[in-house]
Amino acid sequence: MFARIAGTGHYLPSQCLTNAMLEQRVDTTHDWIVERTGIHQRHIAGQGENAVTMGAAAARQALSAANLDTSDIDLIVVATTSGERAFPSVACEIQASLTEQNIPAFDVAAACSGFIFGLSVADQYIRSGTYKNVLVIGTDVLSRLCHPEDRNTIVLFGDGAGAMVLQASDTPGVESTHLHSAGEFADLLGVNHLPRNSRSQAEELSEAWMYMKGNEVFKVAVSKLSELVNETLVANNLTPDALDWLVPHQANLRIIKATAKKLKMPMSQVITTLADTGNTSAASVPIALDVAIRDGRIQRGQRLLLEAFGGGFAWGSALITY
Ligand code: COA
Repeated sequence: MFARIAGTGHYLPSQCLTNAMLEQRVDTTHDWIVERTGIHQRHIAGQGENAVTMGAAAARQALSAANLDTSDIDLIVVATTSGERAFPSVACEIQASLTEQNIPAFDVAAACSGFIFGLSVADQYIRSGTYKNVLVIGTDVLSRLCHPEDRNTIVLFGDGAGAMVLQASDTPGVESTHLHSAGEFADLLGVNHLPRNSRSQAEELSEAWMYMKGNEVFKVAVSKLSELVNETLVANNLTPDALDWLVPHQANLRIIKATAKKLKMPMSQVITTLADTGNTSAASVPIALDVAIRDGRIQRGQRLLLEAFGGGFAWGSALITY
């Protein structure tokens, strides 16, 4: 038994934050942002939009692409780290907005790599024969976790959601997934959001923003992603020319180019959305995938390498025949 992609969808808020708008807010320039990151603008969740509403919208699109109804879904796995509540989970709230059936729904927290981790979980449930149709969603509003005056982070992060229906199939499908974590890097990238008794409320508020040592994150990301794509190919006894598309996490164009170079893949075979979207965290890979499926670049039968790296650190890949 294998898991194949039956349908994909995505949602981006209509409101955009351009580099020119950021120039008015912090000490930065459009040219610096484009040169160092490749990002031109980000979509920002508006009033009434959050991880739940965006995730549900992306999920409906994925279900429609798969020609399925909400009643066909057996399990919902949501990759997110920006739900408005510690619990109920974003997944439970999305479940309530999609269906009255009491199907299981839970969140997976692996920051920017969350979608790959969630996809891997869904793949295991389908391979074991437990579930037939699993909805995997990546949805994040990290713009709300960035201090409005922190030029380190606000230039990078945008909001959005992407979704995929994975379905049981006799043929692959997901060929393999590869996951890694390294918690010792916690001080380089993270968000403190839960109140702790030992701290005053003022301290909590001043610390409740994303912290990031960007250039140190950058170095580890390039090195770990390079090892990861190699590991994925070796595990499947493949060489890079067996790949049709690289669908990478959209954090920084320079990180993406370094991974493509490692694979000797021309940028024409790499899906990038970050000029328009910035880094949408767990939503980044499924948004890029859905954009390229909808515009006709990714075709049935082609082989895709999905990869992501982010806070934790946690990183992972999936080799998939679409
Ligand atoms: N606008 C203008 N200048 C900026 C700036 C900004 N937003 N942020 C930093 N700078 C300046 C620095 O102060 C520094 O100036 P100096 O040379 O006078 O000291 C210079 O630009 C270089 O800073 P550095 O931090 O080394 O830049 P960088 O090339 O590493 O780019 C990032 C910064 C954040 C874009 C890059 O490190 C990155 O993308 N890292 C990965 C982050 C990431 O992916 N996080 C999420 C993981 S999922």
